[in-house]
Amino acid sequence: MRSVPISLGERSYVVQVGSGLIAKLGDHCRRLKLGERCVIVTDANVGPHFADAAARSLKMSGFVPSLVTVPAGESSKSLKIAGECYDQFAMKRLERKSFVIALGGGVVGDLAGFVAATYLRGLPFVQVATTLLAQVDSSVGGKVGINLKAGKNLVGAFHQPKTVLCDLDTLGTLPDREFRSGLAEVIKYGVIRDPELFKRVEKDLGKILERDPNVLTHIISRCCAIKAEIVSEDEFETKGLRALLNFGHTIGHALEAISGYDEYLHGEAISIGQVAAARLSVKLSTLTEKDSIRIHDLLARAGLPVELKLTPKKRDHLVEAMKTDKKVSGGEVKFVLAESLGKAIAGQRVSDSEVTGILNTLAGTEAG
Ligand code: NAD
Ligand code: GLY
Repeated sequence: MRSVPISLGERSYVVQVGSGLIAKLGDHCRRLKLGERCVIVTDANVGPHFADAAARSLKMSGFVPSLVTVPAGESSKSLKIAGECYDQFAMKRLERKSFVIALGGGVVGDLAGFVAATYLRGLPFVQVATTLLAQVDSSVGGKVGINLKAGKNLVGAFHQPKTVLCDLDTLGTLPDREFRSGLAEVIKYGVIRDPELFKRVEKDLGKILERDPNVLTHIISRCCAIKAEIVSEDEFETKGLRALLNFGHTIGHALEAISGYDEYLHGEAISIGQVAAARLSVKLSTLTEKDSIRIHDLLARAGLPVELKLTPKKRDHLVEAMKTDKKVSGGEVKFVLAESLGKAIAGQRVSDSEVTGILNTLAGTEAG
């Protein structure tokens, strides 16, 4: 097992990466000195696999857990489902000292974290991340939120978890497409911060796709450590550093929004977004064509989409959707661009015509 500390003063916590961690959930919570009553929020796919084991472990440590199960999928990150969670919390008589356990992927983590941040003006919460994407990214850093029709994560809060458990055993039931979606965020960390990580994924992709626990332990803890460095320095995304984590997300989020959140998985949308951002980086920054091609090729080898065929009408729709994203500032859409593999810069202005030009190259006719 590896432990990655997230240093945030009194909001500091530890991410644990290893096997058999759900069985130790109760022990971990007991050390945090939380109240007795707790609620496990999970989704309809994850609950049947892991909710019993989580509840058993909590009970053995003297907690009184109950269960709230939401439908699986991005559409649960909504005001409607958040409202249903509040009603369930009230029925279960949660109190100020009660706590919430988000048992699932990024959807459950963002939703349950948001409900925890706002119910009774804030309950403590614990993340038990069950997808690769959640283990390398969404469970760490305290961004929680829900979507509106107008855009992703438009309603949210910063609410740090008390601890994060990344139990590798949970990845055993994760569908292949979901696993590959998480790899898009892993590759992103390499591009923005760590050329060695990028090389390691290039070299060990076969073992990663076989879900080799040793390689995964290394990769997941390295991603969490990178996120820890960034979040510790810029928790509230005011210094331009945390924004680096949005490489590929400007186009990715807009693509998710215009496709009604059900055509592309998050990692798939940001895979296409990263190919676009890499090509923009060649045009507008100092990334070499060769490294842009490496980014494209690694995403493609990971089985992620790297092409996007849009009608001119849909393409214009996507450019408009970018303007309701959270990354707009002073009315301008801001991009993260790569200066080289492992070094990125946030807050870059890119004109609509540059974006349109790059989107036109994604139709599958150009290599790299
Ligand atoms: P997800 O939570 O929808 O999980 C993917 C699918 O896998 C779901 O159908 C789920 O039920 C199922 N599943 C989860 N764990 C499983 C397991 N162990 N076995 C079998 N099935 C399992 O999606 P995700 O990819 O984990 O997260 C995507 C979300 O994360 C998006 O909403 C995205 O915006 C958000 N996100 C948030 C942050 C953040 O910092 N808060 C960062 C990145 C992404
Ligand atoms: N996933 C972006 C962030 O946590 O800031």
